[in-house]
Amino acid sequence: MYNCDKATLLISVPKQLAPEGPAMPVITCIDDLKAIHKRKTPKMFFDYCESGSWTEQTFRENTSDFDKIRLRQRVAVDMTNRTTATTMIGREVTMPVALAPVGMTGMQTADGEIKAARAAEKFGVPYTLSTMSICSIEDVARATKAPFWFQLYVMRDEEFVDSIIERARNAGCDALVLTLDLQILGQRHKDLKNDLSAPPRLSLKNVIDIGLPTRWEWALGMLGTPRRTFRNIVGHAKGVGNLGSLMSWTNEQFDPQLDWGKIARIKEKWGGKLILKGILDAEDAKLAAAAGADAIIVSNHGGRQLDGALSSIRVLPSIVAAVGDQTEVWLDSGIRSGQDILKAMAMGAKGTMIGRAYIYGLGAMGQKGVTKALEILHKEMDVSMALCGKKDLSKVDRDILLVPKGFEGDWQ
Ligand code: GLV
Repeated sequence: MYNCDKATLLISVPKQLAPEGPAMPVITCIDDLKAIHKRKTPKMFFDYCESGSWTEQTFRENTSDFDKIRLRQRVAVDMTNRTTATTMIGREVTMPVALAPVGMTGMQTADGEIKAARAAEKFGVPYTLSTMSICSIEDVARATKAPFWFQLYVMRDEEFVDSIIERARNAGCDALVLTLDLQILGQRHKDLKNDLSAPPRLSLKNVIDIGLPTRWEWALGMLGTPRRTFRNIVGHAKGVGNLGSLMSWTNEQFDPQLDWGKIARIKEKWGGKLILKGILDAEDAKLAAAAGADAIIVSNHGGRQLDGALSSIRVLPSIVAAVGDQTEVWLDSGIRSGQDILKAMAMGAKGTMIGRAYIYGLGAMGQKGVTKALEILHKEMDVSMALCGKKDLSKVDRDILLVPKGFEGDWQ
């Protein structure tokens, strides 16, 4: 992970040198955005973003394993005319990054999904809307022009699943991202302790937290938007009219019987490009490729599901070796810098997804913050690629990496 000097946050441009406005913190890396996100967002939502399940071992190793891989510097190579552009399932992208589906994005800041989707559109990368979003499919479609992707959680209620697939199609979504690793929710201690809900319950603890002077922008934004609960679900699923019944509905409705037969049914119902998310094993990758996935995402859900699972970057090479010639293999979980993206690409990924890296920007500065996060990642990736002696991603391979012996492990 790119390790940024924390001191940069404390440096601000003196007022007299910044005549256009008040002093702004100098933001140079994703960690800067994270620190601002933490200050400006109610604790329960920052914690929701910054949690792994149980001991958080997998959550930690997703980033620390990236740090173990080093880059091989090359010199005296013409570095003009570089590009980070490529394609992901045939779609042209400014860099090999898509915004991952993140539940409750619209609780990090008002209308968060709309802001993130707009930033992605302007930057030229795909946005993925979560089933468990605050803004609905229709809200995002109305606010954007570029097609976005829709992420589906499979519910027991087949009628609801079919209707949400239909809504995604009607909204012009051009790929369905089917999540396979969250039919049972991993336990994140902080969410239980914080009594996480959307919108937050008006307990004394929450009122004090939201009332902190650094949270006024968040509170004002929330007061000014009608989008404060799960709008893909409320009013669309049977019997869900208010928050209380929604929470029990969610607990009851994620379908623990999801299997390859049900995946085939969904693929047929959708009929378009299908991306399978949450693959962490070469045998599952082979089944996913055989199921006709256009891309698979090597992911442990950001360390939020099976604690103790290996980091995504560690398992990526075995999955590329198993199915890289049959389907596009992408990686998510652990990316916090452009160097991490470059490392994943050099290890054989054809694309990546980022979650926290853009959510920090969103919580810090709304749409501008997501743009800032994308700019930071892009610059880090471009400069690192150049210093490794490469001008475009088609030339990037494992040759630019120094990988410690045994990195992929000798797991039995
Ligand atoms: C949902 O995707 C979650 O990880 O909470």
